Amino acid sequence: MTKPRVFVARVIAQEALDKIAQVTEMEVWPEELPPPYEVLLEKAGDAEGLVTTLNDKVDVALINAAPKLKVVSNFAVGYDNINVTEATKRHIFVSNTPGVLTETTADLTFTLLMAAARRVVEADKYTRKGQWRTWGPKVLLGQDIHNATLGIIGLGRIGAEVAKRGRGFNMKVLYYDEIRRSEEEERQLGVEYIPELAELLSRADFITVHVPLLPQTHHLIGAAKFALMKPTAVLINTSRGPVVDQRALYEALKSGRIFAAAIDVTEVEPIPPDDPLLTLDNIIITPHIASASFTTRKNMALMVAENLLAGLRGQTPPNCVNPEALKG
Ligand code: DGY
Repeated sequence: MTKPRVFVARVIAQEALDKIAQVTEMEVWPEELPPPYEVLLEKAGDAEGLVTTLNDKVDVALINAAPKLKVVSNFAVGYDNINVTEATKRHIFVSNTPGVLTETTADLTFTLLMAAARRVVEADKYTRKGQWRTWGPKVLLGQDIHNATLGIIGLGRIGAEVAKRGRGFNMKVLYYDEIRRSEEEERQLGVEYIPELAELLSRADFITVHVPLLPQTHHLIGAAKFALMKPTAVLINTSRGPVVDQRALYEALKSGRIFAAAIDVTEVEPIPPDDPLLTLDNIIITPHIASASFTTRKNMALMVAENLLAGLRGQTPPNCVNPEALKG
């Protein structure tokens, strides 16, 4: 019996590749940079399974060019790179990697929050540039984290883990979400629901965004929202770049409308070297590394393999985002 052809668009943990290779005809894209779209299109042509990352666009044209495709196993919890509606019409399962990266992502969110509040990156540069001439009462002052108010936009898995970290620092934790948690969950997490985003933005010292990228969350944080924030506010974004209007962010930081920002994601990735944000000292920009721990990336890879293999067998993958794709 011929084995199903599978294209894996990036080198992932060997343990996961071994599992996939046992039962498929596997091809792995070996480069550091993602395969160009044309290559993905060509590879999808005879593949029954694809392993993709957030860099790989699975759009209508690709789906149409892939008559045998049964499953797209995305190496990410977010799946805005995939046209799920089209995949579902064609009975192609789409899966993601929820849960395994929650705490690692929350850890980086809190790392960024603390580093921006206390100007850690700026202070390191200051030291290296030989600017540390003396201890000074007004040198590199930042914002206190303990006892401050943390505003979480989107209290899903990751938002809830960030809330726990905030509570550990004795922060008052507010959240805004389309869907309110139960009273019991709110009590356990120690969070207060704020039904109006504007109110959260005006009350929070730290604002952190944890929503998926959807048409309704595109530029959710723009100039009008920055205008509501405190001048001492710090914005953190580890979700998706286009959720924040980057031009408006630049204006808010440059003009001192807000104190600082720390982002792990940008509207275009990688951020172009001439982007004005890179000229500012009051922003930290990391290269989309929120889930990048050894353990988490291995667990994500194993989950990706499990999802892929289930889809190839015609079974709904354990982390399927479109179970309705199952053929009736
Ligand atoms: C995700 O999983 O969506 C992250 O952005 C990458 O780990």
